[in-house]
Amino acid sequence: MKTRITELFGIAHPIIQGGMHFVGLAELAAAVSNAGGLGIITGLTQRTPADLAKEIARCRTMTSKPFGVNLTFLPSVNPPDYPGYVQAIIEGGVKIVETAGNNPQRWMPQLKEAGIKVIHKCTSVRHALKAQSIGCDAISVDGFECGGHPGEDDVPNFILLPRAAEELDVPFVASGGMADGRSLVAALALGAEGMNMGTRFMATKEAPIHERVKQALVAASELDTRLIMRPLRNTERVLNNAGVERLLEKERTLGAAIKFEDIIGEVAGVYPAVMQQGEMDAGAWSCGMVAGLIRDVPTCQELIDRIMGEAHAIIRSRLEGFLEPAHS
Ligand SMILES: Cc1cc2nc3c(=O)[nH]c(=O)nc-3n(C[C@H](O)[C@H](O)[C@H](O)COP(=O)(O)O)c2cc1C
Repeated sequence: MKTRITELFGIAHPIIQGGMHFVGLAELAAAVSNAGGLGIITGLTQRTPADLAKEIARCRTMTSKPFGVNLTFLPSVNPPDYPGYVQAIIEGGVKIVETAGNNPQRWMPQLKEAGIKVIHKCTSVRHALKAQSIGCDAISVDGFECGGHPGEDDVPNFILLPRAAEELDVPFVASGGMADGRSLVAALALGAEGMNMGTRFMATKEAPIHERVKQALVAASELDTRLIMRPLRNTERVLNNAGVERLLEKERTLGAAIKFEDIIGEVAGVYPAVMQQGEMDAGAWSCGMVAGLIRDVPTCQELIDRIMGEAHAIIRSRLEGFLEPAHS
């Protein structure tokens, strides 16, 4: 399949694996890229820029295909060494960066100078337009269904994607709720040129996370996510568990007076505990509603081949079929 996204990134299939904290390591990024999609290493999961440089080098030993690095700009009192991470990306010869969180304006001249294509992830049309105006090459449009941070506007993809198509000139991918060939065809129909998946890629053989996490995704339904940190205007969609219930109880009790420190026990240090140790009730970790569509743990190659096969069948048979002249 050829779209502006496959052309821009030099990939066979218009499928991107979004950055995921403690999930997007070299193993997963390489597996997705080897299967013809675009794999992405999560920059901030690496503790230092030197560690990121090593992770990029490690990914290169596993794939010769293009892959990217995610840089998430978080609101933070002690910001990570962003200049160092950007340097590691440039020196590592990575040519695709997925930015998220704040707008990446400050880093654009440096990234563009190094010939890097930037895809910015955002949850609203106004942020997408801003990203386009500062020179981002593509947008990942993240609807309300998404795992992680859906923003505060709560606009689902059936509205957000066509709205993005009305306004944007640069190509964009649909992100949030994407799982299979049906998602891809729907995304294309709504104006996107591909799709970005997070949660679905966690339930793959190569995802370097604890087996219990993968099984939790297979077992979960579309009703099992919760929105946390709404009162802090830092909303995150997570899979429900005992830690999340505790957190939500604090939100109910403390109301508008709640501070980040009140919930630190349920959010800090959770990712390594869950993803590496499989401590499923450690606290809040991002998960999309799309968990309700996940029923197996294939390899990335099997998943992507299946998606592309389904997409072709839907376009060629199902959709074309609706256009057949009615039999008299
Ligand atoms: C476990 C997990 C961790 C994530 N961590 C990040 C992150 O560090 N930075 C980021 O930009 N997005 C992060 N995301 C969001 C994904 O990149 C992607 O936008 C989102 O998962 C898409 O929605 P979906 O889960 O419905 O596919 C994370 C998502 C998950 C599920």
